[in-house]
Amino acid sequence: MYFPLPSIEKSMQVFIAGSTGVLGRRLVTRFVDRGHTVIGLTRDDDGDELVEARGGEPRRGDLFDEESVIQAAKGADIVIHAATAIPTDNPTPEKWAVNDRVRREGTQTLTTATAEVGADRYLQQSIVWVARQPDGTAFDEDSPLHPDPTAESAVDAEEIAREAGEHHGFIVSILRCGQFYAPDAFHTRAQGTALVRGDRPIIDDSDDALLSRIYVDDAASAFVATAEAGRSGLWHVVDDEPVSDAEFSTSFADRLDASAPERVSEEKARQEMGDGRVELLTTPIPTSNDTFRADIGWEPEYPTYEEGLDHVIETWESDDFPV
Ligand SMILES: NC(=O)c1ccc[n+]([C@@H]2O[C@H](COP(=O)([O-])OP(=O)(O)OC[C@H]3O[C@@H](n4cnc5c(N)ncnc54)[C@H](OP(=O)(O)O)[C@@H]3O)[C@@H](O)[C@H]2O)c1
Repeated sequence: MYFPLPSIEKSMQVFIAGSTGVLGRRLVTRFVDRGHTVIGLTRDDDGDELVEARGGEPRRGDLFDEESVIQAAKGADIVIHAATAIPTDNPTPEKWAVNDRVRREGTQTLTTATAEVGADRYLQQSIVWVARQPDGTAFDEDSPLHPDPTAESAVDAEEIAREAGEHHGFIVSILRCGQFYAPDAFHTRAQGTALVRGDRPIIDDSDDALLSRIYVDDAASAFVATAEAGRSGLWHVVDDEPVSDAEFSTSFADRLDASAPERVSEEKARQEMGDGRVELLTTPIPTSNDTFRADIGWEPEYPTYEEGLDHVIETWESDDFPV
């Protein structure tokens, strides 16, 4: 069951960069189900098959090749940036640099394409932790920015999109999402596997570090609702209750019938998981969806991590994962 939306007034041609990703493939399905026409940017045969199977039209192109994207986006009414190169395993500075390029150059390319093909709407994916507070208190869309080094490119991408919209006169909607989780998301699968193996500790003294998350299906419904609303603005797309990694992981392990995760010191966690991961799990990121709900009328189908994790486990049971 999807979040209920009113009937569409007009069918749009939707161009999605990142159409083969965890978020993007849900976007293809949902926009098609709503009666829109979808063009998915792809880079290989597997991508073509995936987009076609979901009812979209694949067109080849690469965010680092502007002309290919302009050609692929021909006919679009709305352009969506849902691409990423966030490193999965073994993140290195070189891998983060590629992600920075997808954000900065990718936004430049896609906003240029929006103007060139005459689309009147542009939708940008961003992350809520660009604005988290140094003291860990709750923040909202108006809070000052405090990006860590890996999030600076997301701030720049927001700015590039806003300036392009002002310059060319198209609508720019920016959705800052909480931390994603989903049965098919790399980090959720890695966490599930590690919990079953007893290899995913909780960091001592991190119980107050509340993180705002979003189940990826709800992120997808937020994109559809925003695209159809056609409003310029910036919103936080998160579920109703921020939760600590300690609570999320303990509950996740319990649902997987795994033993409760071991608690380790921050020092030990840094040696085992690396500094970046420890920072992410111990830095509070509490924000709310109040403004987004009020402005767009969206509501999450999975309002807390409990409903979301139930659905993750249900999906995995039918896939025999993790083994
Ligand atoms: N809030 C969060 O916790 C969180 C976490 C991760 C990502 N995100 C954000 O969510 C969005 C999508 O993430 P995801 O999980 O769906 O990622 P994903 O599953 O890794 O998918 C990445 C997508 O980006 C495409 N892509 C990468 N580099 C490209 C390039 N140079 N040109 C064209 N396409 C390119 C990939 O295409 P190929 O299939 O051709 O490789 C794929 O479609 C991104 O905007 C990202 O910043 C948020």
